[in-house]
Amino acid sequence: MSFWSFKVWKLLHFPLNSLGCKCVAVVFVVALVVLRGILLQDGLSRVDVNGGMYSDYGIRGDRFLEVPQIVWGLNNQKIAFARACLTARMLNRTLLMPRLSASLFYKELDQLQSIGFDKVFQFRKFNSLCSGFVRLGRYSQVLNQTNVLELQKGSGRKWTSVRDFDQLKEFSGDSSDRYQVIRVIGKNPFLWHDHWPVKDYARVFECLVLVDQFAKEADRVISKIRAIGREAMSVEQGEGRNGGRNGDSAKLDYVPYMAVHMRIEKDWMIHCKKLEQRSNISEICSSKEEITQRVGNIKEVNKPTVLYLAVADNLLEDKTILSGWQQGLLPFEKKKLGVAHIYDKYPYLIKSAIDYEVCLRADVFVGNSFSTFSSLIVLERTQKMNRMGVSSSCNNSMRWPSYAYNIMGDFGGPRKWLTNMSDTSLQAISYGSNHVTC
Ligand SMILES: *[C@@H]1O[C@H](CO)[C@@H](O)[C@H](O)[C@H]1NC(C)=O
Ligand SMILES: *[C@@H]1O[C@H](CO)[C@@H](O)[C@H](O)[C@H]1NC(C)=O
Ligand SMILES: *[C@@H]1O[C@H](CO)[C@@H](O)[C@H](O)[C@H]1NC(C)=O
Ligand SMILES: *[C@@H]1O[C@H](CO)[C@@H](O)[C@H](O)[C@H]1NC(C)=O
Ligand SMILES: *[C@@H]1O[C@H](CO)[C@@H](O)[C@H](O)[C@H]1NC(C)=O
Repeated sequence: MSFWSFKVWKLLHFPLNSLGCKCVAVVFVVALVVLRGILLQDGLSRVDVNGGMYSDYGIRGDRFLEVPQIVWGLNNQKIAFARACLTARMLNRTLLMPRLSASLFYKELDQLQSIGFDKVFQFRKFNSLCSGFVRLGRYSQVLNQTNVLELQKGSGRKWTSVRDFDQLKEFSGDSSDRYQVIRVIGKNPFLWHDHWPVKDYARVFECLVLVDQFAKEADRVISKIRAIGREAMSVEQGEGRNGGRNGDSAKLDYVPYMAVHMRIEKDWMIHCKKLEQRSNISEICSSKEEITQRVGNIKEVNKPTVLYLAVADNLLEDKTILSGWQQGLLPFEKKKLGVAHIYDKYPYLIKSAIDYEVCLRADVFVGNSFSTFSSLIVLERTQKMNRMGVSSSCNNSMRWPSYAYNIMGDFGGPRKWLTNMSDTSLQAISYGSNHVTC
């Protein structure tokens, strides 16, 4: 993939020795001493104070891992973040809350618009949901800021996965234990070697909850979609009543919608055609016509249904994406939906995170199995079904079904799609695959 051709950049580091940090550290120490006193009185041996010093599960609250700023698209940033978490987990360390990047500039570091993790995702919620698995810490928790061991990641072809793993094992040994912070020096964690199974990544992703401000924006978009669907359904029912049937208003309480992540913009088409040639796989690119037709052939959808089209911004001017859909499928993108102003307020990362949420929560999702965005959504939807005890077989009765429109399925529709949670690496999700389990 083109990502691999990017140069390794000079990476950002965060000064730990500011006056502010010291003050916070002093306050923290005082608080700990007080707390310890209280705890001894109560006869408790351990406590977890919002990522404090004590831990039940081997993950130490007083040993940290620091990683470089996380860059690129939302999906690559999520994968990179999870990989950093799993690296910290392997070292039994708390991951110092990394910086994310709000913009999509690849090369100009000064334009990356660094944004704190906790400005996008809920910090406390993360630690409570992931408790016992991985843990995030704040820089203010680091007491000795000079007590740092640098871990230089290798690169290039000779830097194999095995060497990378050996290095991690070395840094998890006793000799590293006296260092408060292990600071990884090297490229974006997205490009580190992957040593963990899919289910470990899924476990981290499900702890990522948007901060209220952005979650509410996603709610607004989804409410708008459902409101339009409700209207369409009541019109339908009204007609039914005129024809002698009874309208059932209770049915209108829940209005399902479908989300289609359409990748048909020019850049993607060039990229996917090249990928098809290189990998000798013909089912990567889908034209707008192919997507429209396959989505129209999905049998399990009651019509009318609103179709939310998640498309690149430059396609919003293209009126043809709204035409050609089967009767009863009501296509909307953010402009026609009247929510473009919500997105326009925010930088790239947030826009993308809102769209992600809208697709994640759709009753039916259709995407491209070679898109990381689509793949992560299907991963989370599969995980959600597993969590709720909904059998995630490929049977028709599946709740929250997902489909890959780039692969032909039954009845000329798109292929049903589940993530293989037993997969031993994230390869298929990071780089796309036409193995969609079903
Ligand atoms: C991490 O903690 C677990 C559980 O306490 C322990 O078994 C393991 O040896 C520790 N690993 C390292 C690298 O410290
Ligand atoms: C902090 O760590 C450095 C380097 O390991 C060490 O020399 C120094 O004594 C430590 N300071 C404190 C207050 O523990
Ligand atoms: C590409 O795949 C087709 C069938 O899937 C096969 O017949 C052909 O030999 C393959 N070509 C290469 C270069 O691998
Ligand atoms: C899925 O379908 C198969 C064959 O139709 C059936 O035997 C099986 O019980 C179904 N599984 C679930 C979980 O519904
Ligand atoms: C899922 O992945 C595991 C491990 O790679 C593999 O053995 C299994 O066959 C896969 N299952 C499906 C349905 O692809």
